Amino acid sequence: MSKDDRIAFETALFMRAAAVETELRRILDARPLTGEIARPERLMAAMRHGVLNGGKRLRPFLVMESAALFLADNDAALRVAAALECVHCYSLIHDDLPSMDDDDLRRGQPTVHKAFDEATAILAGDALLTLAFDIIGDEATALPAERRATLVLALARAAGAGGMVGGQMLDLEAERKRPDEAGIITLQAMKTGALIRFACEAGAIIAGAPPADRERLAEFGSAIGLAFQLADDLLDLTADAKQMGKATNKDAAAGKATLAALHGPDWARGQLHGLIDQAHALLEPYGDAAELLKQAATFVATRSS
Ligand code: IPE
Ligand code: IPE
Ligand code: MG
Ligand code: MG
Ligand code: MG
Repeated sequence: MSKDDRIAFETALFMRAAAVETELRRILDARPLTGEIARPERLMAAMRHGVLNGGKRLRPFLVMESAALFLADNDAALRVAAALECVHCYSLIHDDLPSMDDDDLRRGQPTVHKAFDEATAILAGDALLTLAFDIIGDEATALPAERRATLVLALARAAGAGGMVGGQMLDLEAERKRPDEAGIITLQAMKTGALIRFACEAGAIIAGAPPADRERLAEFGSAIGLAFQLADDLLDLTADAKQMGKATNKDAAAGKATLAALHGPDWARGQLHGLIDQAHALLEPYGDAAELLKQAATFVATRSS
């Protein structure tokens, strides 16, 4: 990636992140909605702590750029992007809990259970997960009802037992019984890949694009999802906590089998290059319109935080 491309991409990522942050703040500050009774302030404060704390907002970026590829309605894409970020932030809050990875630092700040308490962190995660489906299902997400239903279904499957949560289960089991290489790839495709795959696929659903485009974008998402976790594991091995805003060297300490640890950093970097090429090839049919998505693939694989 040239220096100019990197600057263009980081500017675009920053602008999308600012837009999604504003939307998330608005959603989390809203008064109780029809059908709700009251929103306990401590719960809302914990949810805000877990969401409005400066993540990269990569998944929202992917939703919005993949929607833009098909000239979809930007406001609807922003809502779906915010919904997905709620699921992602919930997954981080629960991932950091003492009974899971037991982390004190997230995005350079105390984790939600440290800033509040464990029970509040569990509930904040629960409420963020349900909020995501509220956001997509609400008529304020200005899409035909059928598309909203398709998004709800796709997100439920990406987030649930056969997706992210299932991947977290396999990840915990892997501490006790080391999976083989195929096992690690499945685990990662689920715990990290599924939400990133959904992010890319969502754009095609929002736009009502043909099934072949939806499938192509989903495949693109799978390739960068794998690259994303491989880069995360590589950074866990090679980066420091200050750079990452979260603890590093955790995987080896927990006896966690990762591909980067199994084969070494050089092998991981080689794999990452292969995955970038694969992701770029999938976007070839869209020409210049897919430039930012291509750069996102490169960013994911070569990121330093
Ligand atoms: C971290 O995701 C968790 C993994 C799936 C590896 P990100 O690196 O996207 O975290 P934030 O959202 O930028 O903090
Ligand atoms: C977590 O993976 C993936 C999730 C589903 C949250 P990690 O446990 O490697 O993520 P970090 O390193 O804590 O961000
Ligand atoms: Mg974990
Ligand atoms: Mg973790
Ligand atoms: Mg990690």
